[in-house]
Amino acid sequence: MVAVVVIFFIYDYWTHTYFKRLGIPGPPPKPIFGNALDFSKPLFEVIDEYENKYGPVVGIYMWRRPLLLVRDLDMLRDIMVKDHHRFYNKFPLPMSSGSFDNALFLLRDAQWKRVRDIMTPTFTGKKMKMMSGILNEGADDMVEKLLQSCKEDGNIDSLELFGSFAMDSVASCGFGLKVNSQKDKDHPFITHGKRFFEFFLIFNSPLFMAVSCMPCLRPVFKFFNFTLFPKDVINFFTDVTEKAVALRESHPSKQRVDFLQLLIDAKNGKSKMANENDEDDIHNKYFKDAGADENILIKTQKYMTREELLAQSMVFLVAGYDTTATLLTFASYLLASNPDCQDKLIAEIDDIAPKRDDVGYTTISKMPYLDQVVCEVLRIYPPAVVTDRECGETCSYKGYKIEKGMQIWIPAYTIQRDPTYWPDPLKFNPDRFTKENREGRNPFTWLPFGAGPRVCIGMRFALMEAKMALVRSLQVVRFEISPLTKIPPDVGLTSLLSKKSSYTLKITQRH
Ligand code: HEM
Repeated sequence: MVAVVVIFFIYDYWTHTYFKRLGIPGPPPKPIFGNALDFSKPLFEVIDEYENKYGPVVGIYMWRRPLLLVRDLDMLRDIMVKDHHRFYNKFPLPMSSGSFDNALFLLRDAQWKRVRDIMTPTFTGKKMKMMSGILNEGADDMVEKLLQSCKEDGNIDSLELFGSFAMDSVASCGFGLKVNSQKDKDHPFITHGKRFFEFFLIFNSPLFMAVSCMPCLRPVFKFFNFTLFPKDVINFFTDVTEKAVALRESHPSKQRVDFLQLLIDAKNGKSKMANENDEDDIHNKYFKDAGADENILIKTQKYMTREELLAQSMVFLVAGYDTTATLLTFASYLLASNPDCQDKLIAEIDDIAPKRDDVGYTTISKMPYLDQVVCEVLRIYPPAVVTDRECGETCSYKGYKIEKGMQIWIPAYTIQRDPTYWPDPLKFNPDRFTKENREGRNPFTWLPFGAGPRVCIGMRFALMEAKMALVRSLQVVRFEISPLTKIPPDVGLTSLLSKKSSYTLKITQRH
């Protein structure tokens, strides 16, 4: 018995000296836990401390698993864009997530390439234009809620308001369903949708940590058919999508331009590769800045299985709901705290899109100040604190050896608040994103959507959706700080910045 314990601790010590042997600095690991115990604090705080103490490349141990934190911009350019062929996978989840395993952000290698290649045309500027009408309709319920709150005490919970808007947008664009989350909180789509997000709490659960660190347990979980997401939630969304697909396939008159239809067309081989260069599309440049050359993707055979289609519908919910709600929540908070910027934005709205029916993809693409505001909100409060890559081939950069299989963390949050790139980083200043100020700036200093071929595929949609929601809101109300507003606002502990908390603001009716 003593021999087993001794061997265990020698092995533990050996694995925890991995970075020392490679000459990569990092916080000293504790036996068994590595550095995992540090993560009881918010993730961005821990990352910031590590970077300040150990520099731009830091070796960390999540229990015994080593991972590399990289904030060196040249290395990030190589990892995310230049040498993407070595780093296009993300680190796999330790447990199966049932049929959701086919979701784009969980896919790997050739399957990822094929599905991404098929889905890319779904997100072009032209498709966004076609879909903006659906979003504008969905914003009507949000505007009604704002006007009703003005008549009451004038306080709103911005996360609830914008979360409901984001949920309705997902329901209508991703699943072809009309729901009104502002009123009907008990709709099964909403209750099941919200339960999906309990998933993110899993990252801090002992079960998840144990499985992450002890890969030998994976077959055990597989044998007992444990899944990461609640099975009834997956079954609910699978069922909703199956019925919608069957209806549209049997009744062509029920078809409309939304994500679901675009996916069905892709599955049936009807979608075309789009390599469009839309002059009107202000959002095209983000793809270029992010080095997202979609031609990099190997053109594979174009088919999508039924399981893949069902999983991509859920992707809109998981990837698009919380992130967009977070962006809008912090946007309204920062506008309320900076009335001059809000005045300037309202002036632009009154000039270009003063009425409901003026709001659409083309008009919002012509609003430079709106774009500056949204970019600056995403800089201070990126909804995804970190993103990651897995190294597929041992290589070296700037003298740091990165071995095959290593997980790399890319800390957007700390880079975007680094005073070297962003003087006075906590000051909300949309002028950082004027055309002149953008020029010459390293694109890897602004990474809210990631970069390279694995950049957020929903970026255009998210920007359109958030901008339309802001315009529709500011056409009718102003955001103000209320005595109930928490300053600074609460933020989450994990890789997502949102938190189940109240984000109260006061609103006053315009005109
Ligand atoms: C403000 C809103 C959003 C933010 C901040 C955001 C952020 C991100 C980030 C940081 C990544 C990882 C990129 C990388 O590793 O380089 C990502 C990936 C992804 N996002 Fe988004 N996202 C948003 C909205 C959306 C929406 C609305 C959708 C779908 C309609 C979406 C779908 C995806 C998908 C499918 C991926 C995985 C892409 C792949 O692995 O190929 N996102 N997003």
